[in-house]
Amino acid sequence: MSSLPSQLSSRIEAVTGIDPELRPATKPQFGHFQSNVALRLAKSEGRPPREVAASIVERLDLADLCEPPEIAGPGFLNLRLKSSVLASWVTDQLAAPGAGIEPAETSQVVVIDYSAPNVAKQMHVGHLRGTIIGDCLHRVLAAVGHRVIPQNHVGDWGTQFGMLVEQILEDQIDVSGLDLAAAEELYKRANAHFKADPEFATAARQRVVALQSGDPETRATWRQLIEVSLVGFNAAYARLGVLLTDDDLAGESIYNDDLAPLVAELQASGTAVVDDGALCVFIEGFNSPMIIRKSDGGFGYATTDLAAVRHRVRDLHADRIIYVVGSPQSFHFEQVFAASRKAGFLPDGVSAEHVAYGQILGPDGRRFSTREGSAVPLTSLLDAAEEQAAPPVALAAIKYADLSTGINKDYVFDVDRMVQTTGNTGPYLQYAHARMAQVLRRAEAEGLTGRALVTVLEEPAEQQLALLLSRFGETVAGVAQDLQPHKLCTYLYELAGALSVFYEQCPVLKSEGEVRDSRLALCAATKKVLAAGLDLLGIAAPDRM
Ligand code: ARG
Repeated sequence: MSSLPSQLSSRIEAVTGIDPELRPATKPQFGHFQSNVALRLAKSEGRPPREVAASIVERLDLADLCEPPEIAGPGFLNLRLKSSVLASWVTDQLAAPGAGIEPAETSQVVVIDYSAPNVAKQMHVGHLRGTIIGDCLHRVLAAVGHRVIPQNHVGDWGTQFGMLVEQILEDQIDVSGLDLAAAEELYKRANAHFKADPEFATAARQRVVALQSGDPETRATWRQLIEVSLVGFNAAYARLGVLLTDDDLAGESIYNDDLAPLVAELQASGTAVVDDGALCVFIEGFNSPMIIRKSDGGFGYATTDLAAVRHRVRDLHADRIIYVVGSPQSFHFEQVFAASRKAGFLPDGVSAEHVAYGQILGPDGRRFSTREGSAVPLTSLLDAAEEQAAPPVALAAIKYADLSTGINKDYVFDVDRMVQTTGNTGPYLQYAHARMAQVLRRAEAEGLTGRALVTVLEEPAEQQLALLLSRFGETVAGVAQDLQPHKLCTYLYELAGALSVFYEQCPVLKSEGEVRDSRLALCAATKKVLAAGLDLLGIAAPDRM
């Protein structure tokens, strides 16, 4: 099912020779789609735009798809689809497995780096966003036919593990008995100890060396810390209903053995040079170099990220790499991408994008923190929402609030608003879906199963609903391209709005014959698109609420 606007576009382009850049009409009286192609051609040809528009219309053959095109204002082309075309489109959509989602022209290998919590720390509000947004992009990209490889770049390596392991061994703690909250307490204790006691600090530093060189006792304790952390992470993933599994784990530690050869490569190619004892990559346009190896010989977060880019391109064959990480790391990723290009790890044909998300703010509009001043753990947000609504609704509330705000923006965590079943919320969309399920149940109980064909679209409310349904595929394709899930949210909200106008103005069960059949099919198609859209957001679509 090639989308209706793309069918129209290619027909117009055959006449104009340039992309008509078809846009949804800004007002209903302008029809369904508008193009300014005549204005653009007029400029280059030096002719009056309305004249150009008239000659385009003369040569254009859209009679099977559209009402006769209209020329408006200075020379815009206004197109209105025939209602029979819309009707058969929606009928096809109702029968199609993908509800109108079209496969991308070329299927890519897309690596998505998301969630990435840190070992021995609870997932906090920031990781909530990364996990929800990453999960949505994963679903959308897979739905349009790309091969998605999720990479959970867990923070499981670095100097902090020296002090953690040292503290555990000193106190003879049984790590397997800890939960994530207790591990975080331990982390705080080890950190304070490290700062207060120079002898402990020295032992902790030696522990880092032991960890890196593979000392069995150190490694075993470190492993146990990872195990207990994973139990906590997986509990959070299960509760959130996201697609991540243990197969997607690709923590910082997996790159440990790559670092030395990577550094050798960078030095051999002259990409990295020693400056003041540290090995650095200088990149044009950046004030400070990227440090590959500190003067004490240690590798940092950035070096690991270079190794990750290299692995994703060389071994995973990524065409596109997407990083769903908070906006404070924007500079880091700009540098990583630039250094990777310079080093040849990231060839021109492979794109790397940082989907930088904003913060979740507390009710006071400031950074969301606990009374003690630390970041709010993810579980307490879920608990707060579940105090107001059943788990699937609470989850819908949280995810939708997160995805419907532009990703780069901060937003206030306002549970009372999020769980409302009116307004632009997740529960409102679930409710619209459940309402359609109920209509279809009633129809079935009355023996009115219909023929699943949309044949009559006479009322403006029916037409508007059908037009929006036909735009589902384009909307999903747009999100796969631009990585902006809020556009799918806006679409679904508009669809639910059009549904509600339709439902108010067009009786379904109380109408008769072909009209009733057609309206039932329209309800079924809307239910299907709402369910498919919610699924892409990672939100359940219950049949009853
Ligand atoms: N663990 C990091 C954090 O919590 C996020 C890692 C993001 N991914 C990456 N490849 N650096 O901030």
